[in-house]
Amino acid sequence: MEKKKKGIISKVGMWYLLILAIFAGYTNWLPQIRGDAPEAAVAVDVGTVTPEQLKEMGQKIIFGTDDPEGALRKGETPIGKGSCPLCHRFFMDQKADRCPNLIALPAEQVSSPDPEKLLQMTEEERSYKRPLTERYQSFKEKLSGGEPNSGIKPHATPGGQYLVESEYCPNCFVVAGFAIKGTNDMVSPMPIINKPPIELTDTEIVSVVTFLQTRSGDMSKGTAKESWEAYFGKKLGEAAPGAVAAGGAAPSADSKLALDTDTPDQIVGKMGCFACHKIPGIAVAKIGMVGPLLIEGTNAPNRIKSPEYRKAFKEGKVHATTPKEYVMESIMTPWLFIVPGFQDDMLKDFSKKFTFAALSNMADYLLQQTADKAIKEGLDRLPQEKEGPLKKTAMGNSDKQLAMNN
Ligand code: HEC
Ligand code: HEC
Repeated sequence: MEKKKKGIISKVGMWYLLILAIFAGYTNWLPQIRGDAPEAAVAVDVGTVTPEQLKEMGQKIIFGTDDPEGALRKGETPIGKGSCPLCHRFFMDQKADRCPNLIALPAEQVSSPDPEKLLQMTEEERSYKRPLTERYQSFKEKLSGGEPNSGIKPHATPGGQYLVESEYCPNCFVVAGFAIKGTNDMVSPMPIINKPPIELTDTEIVSVVTFLQTRSGDMSKGTAKESWEAYFGKKLGEAAPGAVAAGGAAPSADSKLALDTDTPDQIVGKMGCFACHKIPGIAVAKIGMVGPLLIEGTNAPNRIKSPEYRKAFKEGKVHATTPKEYVMESIMTPWLFIVPGFQDDMLKDFSKKFTFAALSNMADYLLQQTADKAIKEGLDRLPQEKEGPLKKTAMGNSDKQLAMNN
């Protein structure tokens, strides 16, 4: 008995050492990004914009910087307001995950361990193949009445139109094997890019697509504007003519950090948690379909009691003994314990982006969220969550999509 108690105490000690070690690294790093010059917005005229300008603007929207490679070298994950790198892998040395392999790295060879092979086909090349597949035809038939969330009927011709369609209607074609588990390979976890909370404008989407097309440096491939106009049958910028400021207000260096004074809403917005998680009480976090519904008041106590977590704890891999420690650990070091039913898809660098108080406040907020609160808002767990739906009768969004697809 005495011995067991001692064991637990030393484990608790270890947890604090771990968190302290993480934050020791963080404080060294903090002044560097604080010192970065604020990003300038690019202004373009939609009528006369060149592919070069669009590419530059697209890069800024995707990465939030003109120098994503430089940011990567500094150990940061460059993410702009488009949020794409939250899920997609744009560089070989970016952490390889499930969705990220899709852009610039070919999905067909996602399971290939050979990095050379992965680089053989770009997203630009792939965009010419997808609409010609039988799979695309079957989506076209199934969704001939229009895809319910976007209202769009799949109708892309090969090339730029396919990429445009992917942004406005991710469910119009879902790459095999990348759908939300339990949806018959039919429902994409990717958010609709022109809708809140990401809500890029048409011109911004065209610029992002231009970036994908011209990444190789061949500017003649930057046909996104023409493809957009052919796809929608109207001129780009018709609704709002004139100059468009890309990238919105120049984000300050602080917009990349979760600070002591930030509310949970602000943290979720800044850090992009909304792209993957639904969270009760947070307006932007209603679309995430990559990670668990964050009702940690219900989940966290059960997780630390679960046989999977107990096993990892005994092996010394994880260290949380209270729900709050579990939530903080899940954000700081998500790879240590993977929630059953999921993959190691969470970003790995939040330890560099949170102050300790911000982390603690975020954890407190998530611990106040329960199954009851989620039910009241009509939010539900994803099909792959082992616990099953919160309320069998509740028709959440994904249930509606499922019903439609069956
Ligand atoms: C929350 C995660 C997530 C975010 C954020 C996200 N995507 Fe995706 N995306 C996916 C997944 C998963 C797929 C594969 C399933 C599918 O086909 O929809 C995908 C598919 C795509 C495809 C089709 C790929 C192909 O080879 O057919 C394109 C193009 C794409 N995404 C571009 C983007 C861009 C550009 C952004 C940012 C503006 C973005 N995505 C943001 C998860 C995401
Ligand atoms: C790119 C997608 C992605 C983003 C962005 C993301 N997460 Fe996650 N998160 C996941 C996935 C997938 C899991 C489940 C796998 C695992 O355990 O790591 C998860 C697990 C969690 C868990 C454990 C949940 C449970 O019930 O056990 C917490 C807590 C969490 N995330 C919080 C956050 C917070 C807070 C943010 C923003 C600061 C965030 N996540 C951003 C994908 C993401």
